[in-house]
Order: sequence, then structure tokens, then C-alpha cells
Amino acid sequence: MRLQEIKLVNFRRHADLTFSPSDGINLVYGPNGSGKTNILDAIHYCTLAKGFNRSIDRECLNFAAGYFLLKGRFADDREIEISVKVSYARTSEKKISVNGEELKKFSQLIGRVPCITFSPMDLAVVNGSPQERRRFMDNALSQTDKRYLDDLLQYRRVLQQRNTLLAAVRDNGMERGSLDAWTEKLSLLAGSIMSARTVFLFRLLEFFKPVYVELGLGEVPGMSYCSSVGVHTPEISAERLAEVFMQRLRDVEEQELYRKQTLFGPHRDDVMFRLNDVDVKKYASQGQLRTFLIAMKLALQRFVCEVTGERPLFLLDDLFSELDRKRGEKVLELLDGSGQSIITATDKKEVKGVHCISVEELAQSVV
Ligand SMILES: Nc1ncnc2c1ncn2[C@@H]1O[C@H](COP(=O)(O)OP(=O)(O)OP(=O)(O)O)[C@@H](O)[C@H]1O
Ligand SMILES: [Mg+2]
Repeated sequence: MRLQEIKLVNFRRHADLTFSPSDGINLVYGPNGSGKTNILDAIHYCTLAKGFNRSIDRECLNFAAGYFLLKGRFADDREIEISVKVSYARTSEKKISVNGEELKKFSQLIGRVPCITFSPMDLAVVNGSPQERRRFMDNALSQTDKRYLDDLLQYRRVLQQRNTLLAAVRDNGMERGSLDAWTEKLSLLAGSIMSARTVFLFRLLEFFKPVYVELGLGEVPGMSYCSSVGVHTPEISAERLAEVFMQRLRDVEEQELYRKQTLFGPHRDDVMFRLNDVDVKKYASQGQLRTFLIAMKLALQRFVCEVTGERPLFLLDDLFSELDRKRGEKVLELLDGSGQSIITATDKKEVKGVHCISVEELAQSVV
């Protein structure tokens, strides 16, 4: 997948800017505050319907404007074009259309333009709360597995309904038996989600190991899914996980009624990242954390490519500030030939095969 051109109107600091990156590695450079991340933000909107670093629509609207408009033109590896338009106005909701047709649900955009991101803020995936790691898995799987996204959205709805019911049974004396149908529904969805995440991490690790060897300090990495259901291996089927999950929910029903909420499930699960069998979150140095993160994103790029048959677009914000020179160069080598990537940096880098673009020149080149 390639971004051929993106046009930004009133988006963050850019009143009118057009960016046409080249096919391989692109380096957008410029001083602090010159609007480099803003461009990645705009591309992110056109691929995943929302901003980079979780920015929200209103924040992206230029301070002086009443609306913003983004137009992205992409081509997949078979040269089939896809155009995405995102518009937002102070007075109306965000609208997204693909090839001229307005989407009813933004989730319909997910997976159309596979996109991987790297940002210094992503360090939280490695050393932050479990929610960050769940978000990482959900994001990766939603782009590669339509069924996963459907299951996840449904799981969230069923979870909410089950929690409401737990409260109704406890507070309003509603029949306990009415919970069973929701427990079963939730278990089936939980089984599929846990199974998909387990298989995902297992496959990701296969790509991760060789990349980490190239970048790392000689440790052996590991990653595995952790849930309250127990040990997860890719051989355990979704159905079996659902059965075990349902039994465990039944075992804790009293506590759940008391607390009026579902006490465990994919919405509470976590991932364990390891280096030489030691928990990365607790023991890794800053350099090891950063290396782990970038290796994980490079592995994800390879994973998405294998699953979808499409090389994803790769957005890397402030890459070099996170890595020492040797590792920075190694990452460029690893990016070479794996599709289009767009990197931001404060300084220009004269490296063969890297196409450098000044953000200040881009911003000036439009009327
Ligand atoms: N909604 C907005 N309207 C106008 N300007 C905005 C808006 N949102 C952010 N900006 C401005 O955009 C600039 C930040 O741009 P951006 O984050 O892209 O910079 P950058 O080039 O990535 O800088 P750094 O190298 O520090 O990461 C800030 O000066 C900020 O004031
Ligand atoms: Mg920036």
C-alpha cells in the first residue's frame, strides 16, 4: 500500500498543504513545532479514521478555521487506487468517504489501507498499563481480521449488557437465570478473541525474533498472552477457551453480583513481554525498551504483509530521537524494500535510498 498524495486543508497548523511521498523511505524533516507530526496525524485519519497519538477531531481543526478536509489517494500493491476523504466541521460530525461513497460506520475503513505506526508515545505499549497492550493487539488484529473487529465490537456491547443485568439482578431482584444467556454469548466471543490474540502473539514472535537479533543486545525475546483463564497456546481452540471461560464466570457469579460487573475477560487481559525470560516492563533499560518497541513494530509490518498480502504503510514519528545512531541506521536497512515508510525527524539525513522532504518547503509551496 502506498500513499500517492495527501491534501490537508485547515488541518492543525496546515491551512493548505499537499504531500506526495515517494515509494520507499521518506524522511520529513524540519524544526520542532513545524508540523511534521501533523502530517502523520492527517495520514492516520485517512487510514484508521482517527488521529495519531489518539488526538481527537476538534483538536485537529485549525484554530482559525471552521472545518478541516483531508483527501488521501492510495494505491495498493496491485496498483488499485483508493481515495479517502475525511471532513469535519465545528458545526457537524466527522464524515468519511471511500472512493466517493460515504461510510455508514467508521469501522468500515479499518483494514482498507493497512497502516502501522511508531511513536515515542507507544513506549507505553511495552512499559505502560495492560490497556495499552490490549489496544496494540486490537489495533493490529482489527486491520488484518474482519471477524476479529466484529467480535470485539460485539463483545463490548454484550459486556455492557451483562454488567447492566448483574446490577439489575442485585438491585432490582431480577431473576438470576436471565444472566445465563448473556454469560454464554460473552463466553463465545471471549473465546474467539482470546484465541485470535494468542495466535497473533505467537506468529508475531516469529517475525520479532530475527528483527530483535538484528537490533538488540543479544537477549532472547518472548511474548505471551496472559488471562485469568490460564495458559494460552495456539493449539487451544476458541471453543475450548469459551468453555473454560464460561465455567470460570459461573464460579465467580456471587462476586460478580456483589460488584455488579464482569470480573475478567479479554477486556482485562494482558501480554507479557520478556527478554531472556525476564519481564521487560519491570527490568528492561530505556534502550532495551525502545529497541523492543521498534522491533515489535517492524515485526508487525512483516506480519500484516504476510496475512494481507499487502505491504502496509509505515508511519514513524520522531524515530531517531529514540535510537542511537547505529540502531537508527539498522532500522533504515530493515525498512528498505518493505514498502513505503514515512519518517519524521528534526534533521535531514543524507542516506542512500532515503527521500528527504523539508516540511517548511512543503508548507510554503502552496497558496
Ligand atoms: N488545531 C491546531 N491549529 C493550529 N495549529 C495547531 C493545531 N494543533 C497543533 N498546532 C500547532 O502545530 C504545531 C505542532 O506541530 P507538530 O506536532 O506537527 O510539530 P513537529 O514538527 O512534529 O514538532 P516536533 O519536532 O517538536 O515533534 C504546534 O506549533 C502547534 O501549536
Ligand atoms: Mg513531532
